[in-house]
Amino acid sequence: MFSRVFLGSDHAGFNLKKIIIDYLVNNFDIEIVDKGTYSEASCDYPDYAIEVCKEIIRSKNSAGILICGTGIGMSIVANKFEGIRAALCYNSTSSRLSRLHNDSNILCLGARIIGPEIAKDIVKAFLETPFEGGRHQKRIDKILELEKKIRTC
Ligand code: RB5
Repeated sequence: MFSRVFLGSDHAGFNLKKIIIDYLVNNFDIEIVDKGTYSEASCDYPDYAIEVCKEIIRSKNSAGILICGTGIGMSIVANKFEGIRAALCYNSTSSRLSRLHNDSNILCLGARIIGPEIAKDIVKAFLETPFEGGRHQKRIDKILELEKKIRTC
């Protein structure tokens, strides 16, 4: 299980991020690091996705939660980083499967698409579900191989 969660959002995800942080504090024994944004002032989602991804790459056994209006922008940015497997989830089933099958290490949420209660369910599934390994490991290995090849292109 993850020992630390880095959170990031843009202005569209700011309020949901606050709700998710409260939820984590009250329900999980896990270290929480809020990488911003810290207000509802308009900002650019790539800046926060980049900060969170850098932290996850540096810090072992950590996960990320990135929130923007749709979650799409955050997931596009995050999946450019080697070793990051960001899953955009609108329900707890996709969140659970992203852990079981894809060993996702970042969860992306769309604050303008889902409500806070669904978001909490999605976060719970993400944090409580382990990677299944087995046949899924060889698929993850292929992604890691691909990342290495792209690096040398
Ligand atoms: C911001 O208006 C919005 O474009 C952003 O939060 C996100 O939805 C992008 O994917």
